[in-house]
Amino acid sequence: MKRKVTVVGGAGNVGATVARSIAEKELADVVIIDIADQKAAGIALDIYETCPIIGSDSRVIGGSDWSAAAGSDIVVITSGKPRKPGMSRDDLVRDNFEIMKSIAPKVVEFCPNAIIIPVANPLDAMAQALYKLTKFPRERILGMAGVLDSARMSTFIAMELGVSVENVTSFVLGGHGDTMVPLARFSTVAGIPITELLSKEKIDAISARTANGGAEITKMVGTSAWYAPGAAAASMCEAILRDKKKILPCSVYLQGEYGIRDLFVGVPVKVGARGMEQIIEIKLSAEEDAALKKSAGAVKELVDVIGM
Ligand code: 2OP
Repeated sequence: MKRKVTVVGGAGNVGATVARSIAEKELADVVIIDIADQKAAGIALDIYETCPIIGSDSRVIGGSDWSAAAGSDIVVITSGKPRKPGMSRDDLVRDNFEIMKSIAPKVVEFCPNAIIIPVANPLDAMAQALYKLTKFPRERILGMAGVLDSARMSTFIAMELGVSVENVTSFVLGGHGDTMVPLARFSTVAGIPITELLSKEKIDAISARTANGGAEITKMVGTSAWYAPGAAAASMCEAILRDKKKILPCSVYLQGEYGIRDLFVGVPVKVGARGMEQIIEIKLSAEEDAALKKSAGAVKELVDVIGM
C-alpha cells in the first residue's frame, strides 16, 4: 500500500522542500495543502514533473481541499508566518497559534490516525498547541527542531575540523529557541567526543552559532531558512515510514522525563512506525540539567501566553 504524507503550508518554502524531499526519496505520495490553492497545485505539479527525471513514482498533488489529505500517515505542518530579520522565533507565537487553531480540526477530521510533525515556530509551543487541540496521543506528535539544530551544529564542527560531515554526530536538546542546549559531551567525530578535539572557546563559539543558526540565515536571506528545515522534517518522515527506530532529537510531550512535566521539549527519541516509540533518558551533569531546565522554562512562558 502506498503511504501518504500531507504537507500543510506546502506552498511555502519549507513545506515545498519537505514535499520535494519526500518525493525524491520515493517515501510516499505527497499532498500539499495550502490556503494558496493555485500555488499549492502548481508547486505540487512542478515537483511531480521532477519524478520522471529522478525515477520516483511518488504522486504529488496540491490544493486547499483537505479531502485529498484523507487517511494520511503523516501530516507535516509548516504553515505559519516566517521570521523576518530581527525577529525571534518567539515573536510569532500568537499569530501562528491562530493558524494552528484552524489546522488542528482538519487534521482530526481527515487524518485521525496520522503522526503530526509540527514545524512552525515557536516550535515547541506550536507542538503543544497541536497536542492539546487534536487530543492525539503524545506518541503521534513529534516536533521538528533538534534534527535541524543538530545538523547545524554538525556543519559547524565539520567546518572547524575539516572533516566529513558524515563523521559528525551532534546532540542538541531543549526548546528550539535561543536557550537550546548543544551538548558537547555527546557530540562526536568518528566516535570521539568533540571535547577531546576542540578547545572550550571553539566549542562555546560553535554552540552559540548553533543556537543563533536560524537568525544567521534569516539575516542573510531576509526570511527563515528552508533547505535544512525541510530536509530535517523529511528525515523524520523517513524514520517513521521506514520504521527505522532511529534516535533523533525531537520535541515531544514530556511527562516527568528529564524532570520536566506537561511540556514539549527536545529530547532524544526513538522514532519508528508508531512515531515516538521511546524517550531516551541520559544522565545530565548539573550544568547541563540547569541549561535544559532553563530552556524548558522559556518554552513554558510561551505555552502560558497561548494558554495551552
Ligand atoms: C530555523 O531555525 C525556521 O526555526 C527555523 O531556521
